[in-house]
Amino acid sequence: MGTSYPLMRIPAVQAPPMIEEHLDAAERDALKARIKAQLQAQDAVLVAHYYTSAELQDLAEETGGCVSDSLEMARFGHAHAASTIVVAGVRFMGETAKILNPEKRVLMIDPAAECSLDLNCPADAFIPFCDAHPERTVVVYSNTSAAVKARADWVVTSGIAARIVCHLHERGEKILWAPDRHLGRYVQRVTGADMLLWEGSCVVHEAFRADALKQLMGQHPEAAVLVHPESPESVIALADVVGSTTQLIDAVRDLPNASFIVATDNGIFHKMKAAAPGKLILEAPTAGEGATCTSCAHCPWMAMNGLRKLAAVLETGAGEVRIDEAVRVQAVRSITRMLDFAAAERRRAA
Ligand code: 13P
Ligand code: SF4
Repeated sequence: MGTSYPLMRIPAVQAPPMIEEHLDAAERDALKARIKAQLQAQDAVLVAHYYTSAELQDLAEETGGCVSDSLEMARFGHAHAASTIVVAGVRFMGETAKILNPEKRVLMIDPAAECSLDLNCPADAFIPFCDAHPERTVVVYSNTSAAVKARADWVVTSGIAARIVCHLHERGEKILWAPDRHLGRYVQRVTGADMLLWEGSCVVHEAFRADALKQLMGQHPEAAVLVHPESPESVIALADVVGSTTQLIDAVRDLPNASFIVATDNGIFHKMKAAAPGKLILEAPTAGEGATCTSCAHCPWMAMNGLRKLAAVLETGAGEVRIDEAVRVQAVRSITRMLDFAAAERRRAA
């Protein structure tokens, strides 16, 4: 087992109200035609996260872009030849694309789309915390600002976090981890590494509830339980599979079960249903239901992405991501380490 330390205390984040885009078929078709023409005219590629709307996910694929987890979004945008990358996701995803591709124009559908983990970890508090622990290797989750990545030794996504921390632990390194405490605890448990944890959390995943999940499991004893590691420890403890968004979709496709209970943002159901047509996908219960529901298993910042805003961003050039060059040069080192580690793993597996 790894060593536990007191968590860093940080102020809570208020999530914005959930405002989703609703379009009738005629408006949707007209917007899609405008967007496709603009993507082509501007040599642009659309890169979308699994938590965005089904319309955005389909459009990304129809136009030669990609729908994926945050690790693959970074890889895809970097490898693609387009001179403009349009990010359907949240701010850290747009910043990661810009950090890796300074020569490209990176547009965000809505630059105000934040992430509670990023907001939980302001650079002006995080940097002195790191400075106070110079003996530790600083590993930060990708859901952080460019300035926090610039202070880190490594950036990791949920899909690769445990493997990178395991590698560092085997080299005898002690870890300072930020910002997600649940993912940090999970990684600590599976690797046995010595980890000092920041106390951030995701407003969406933190709302999943173990007691209510147990009840639902009782009603569906045949269902496999799939959990994103940003969820509380008590929910992770009930999981058959813990993994990144892509790893959870793969589990729906590959496991023999006919039904699944899923503890992550329900935007992912679009791809899960496509990966395994006919299988039953159920939402894991959250803290609030109906009128009291704060997230209802959907990220309010991801919901800020929509076709209307995408058309406007392409037509006006608004929403361009800009990063201070000195910060970018620092941040690219820690992201590149992760991408190189992932590439080396793929080479070994080939
Ligand atoms: P993934 O890296 O698994 O796509 O997760 C990103 C995220 O924001 C989860 O809430
Ligand atoms: Fe951030 Fe949570 Fe939204 Fe993911 S689901 S982008 S971790 S707030």
